[in-house]
Amino acid sequence: MEKVALRNASALSSPPPWELRRHSSDFRVLRTVKNRLSSTTIVSRSPAVCDLRLNTARDGQRVKKANIIALTLFLVGAGSPGSAAEAEELSQNDWLLRAENDNARFRLLQQQMRGFDQPMWEVGERFERLHDALQRENYELAVYHWDKIKTTIENGVAKRPARGESARRLFLGDSWTKIRAAFASGDKREAWDGFDSARTACQSCHQAEKLEFMNNQVIFDLARPRRD
Ligand code: HEC
Repeated sequence: MEKVALRNASALSSPPPWELRRHSSDFRVLRTVKNRLSSTTIVSRSPAVCDLRLNTARDGQRVKKANIIALTLFLVGAGSPGSAAEAEELSQNDWLLRAENDNARFRLLQQQMRGFDQPMWEVGERFERLHDALQRENYELAVYHWDKIKTTIENGVAKRPARGESARRLFLGDSWTKIRAAFASGDKREAWDGFDSARTACQSCHQAEKLEFMNNQVIFDLARPRRD
């Protein structure tokens, strides 16, 4: 069994069981060496010392992977001053650190951040909380949720700009401001009128965005109390 420990870049000199390739990314996983006993992930921060590939040729022979029980790499400097390349154990849970490059990382983040559905989920939840707040005559809380609903929809539009036109025209402009004033008034009847207008604003956007089916759900049955 052969144990290979590479302490620094000078250890990469001849005879070459190793092959170096440069690439431009700043930080990436080069490879993971796995076997029964261990799994070592090689990473590099140094553009100058990148992509270390295990050269399988040794004296013209193939070195079997099974022969390598661990590979520890501490690439230091290697001609790029100050950039101490580090060896770091990355687990399979390091879903961002393990990505090829920053582009791939941003793609993964975009995917995780979802589109308009998740903000809407939050908006639906807050809409219910808003109704609760009005029932308790907690108008400060109603205003709080109304403000957060706005932020959430704006953030949704940042991710899905095509929804922006309807959002601004039917919700985020004047109607949002007037409804806020109704909640802030602290007047029970005015506040419930505000709630009715809010529901209409939500539903009109769903209609404009060709999602009429969204309007047929329990949260939109929420209404002012029978006797107020
Ligand atoms: C841009 C206009 C627009 C406005 C304003 C709007 N919605 Fe939506 N809503 C959407 C769109 C688009 C979807 C579907 C999202 C998707 O398919 O990714 C949606 C989906 C939803 C969903 C389903 C979310 C889920 O996946 O479970 C709920 C609940 C919802 N909206 C509630 C509301 C409420 C309550 C309001 C008002 C406070 C509101 N919406 C205002 C456009 C809007």
